[in-house]
Amino acid sequence: MFEFVNYTDCSREQLLEILELRNLDSIRKWMVNPGVISREDHFRFVESLRTNPDRLYFAVYKDSELVGTYNLTNEGGGVWERGIFANPAFQGRGLTGRWERQMISGLAGRGIEALSAKVREDNLRSVRYHLRLGFEEVSRDGEYIHYLLKLR
Ligand SMILES: CC(C)(COP(=O)(O)OP(=O)(O)OC[C@H]1O[C@@H](n2cnc3c(N)ncnc32)[C@H](O)[C@@H]1OP(=O)(O)O)[C@@H](O)C(=O)NCCC(=O)NCCS
Repeated sequence: MFEFVNYTDCSREQLLEILELRNLDSIRKWMVNPGVISREDHFRFVESLRTNPDRLYFAVYKDSELVGTYNLTNEGGGVWERGIFANPAFQGRGLTGRWERQMISGLAGRGIEALSAKVREDNLRSVRYHLRLGFEEVSRDGEYIHYLLKLR
């Protein structure tokens, strides 16, 4: 139902649309690195993904519309840290949870045993989202809540 396209397989236009979303104030303010990313840095980063098996970045499409992005970074021991943002035009309808569940159902086959996530304590919407998806709180460090979702 949803299509996941690795950034390394995206066209230049698709990568620019991803960057546009990533640089929206309402999205970047929740990121660990909240700065605006330049086109140059974005394209350089995507090139670096081609030779880095420990970082997987996907654009998520529904009927050819970009509904969000999903990224995974190998932390070792079968745990991958996952990052997510949804296109604001598609937020708040339960759609994001549907495509993340579809994504997750394919991850166990890649040898991924658990997903970790860190959510700013004041990102209440994201906190609710993670709890609804089944992530369990592991710890808090005063800025972030650290979550884990076991896949098996
Ligand atoms: C966090 C984020 C990915 C969640 O995606 P989302 O689209 O808002 O989440 P959902 O699709 O599950 O929608 C949930 C909301 O829609 C409402 N909703 C409406 N219909 C729904 C349905 N059928 N099923 C579930 N929720 C539904 C829920 O009540 C919920 O509202 P709430 O957020 O006030 O609790 C998204 O808000 C986002 O990208 N935020 C900015 C970037 C960010 O914070 N990323 C995460 C960093 S850790």
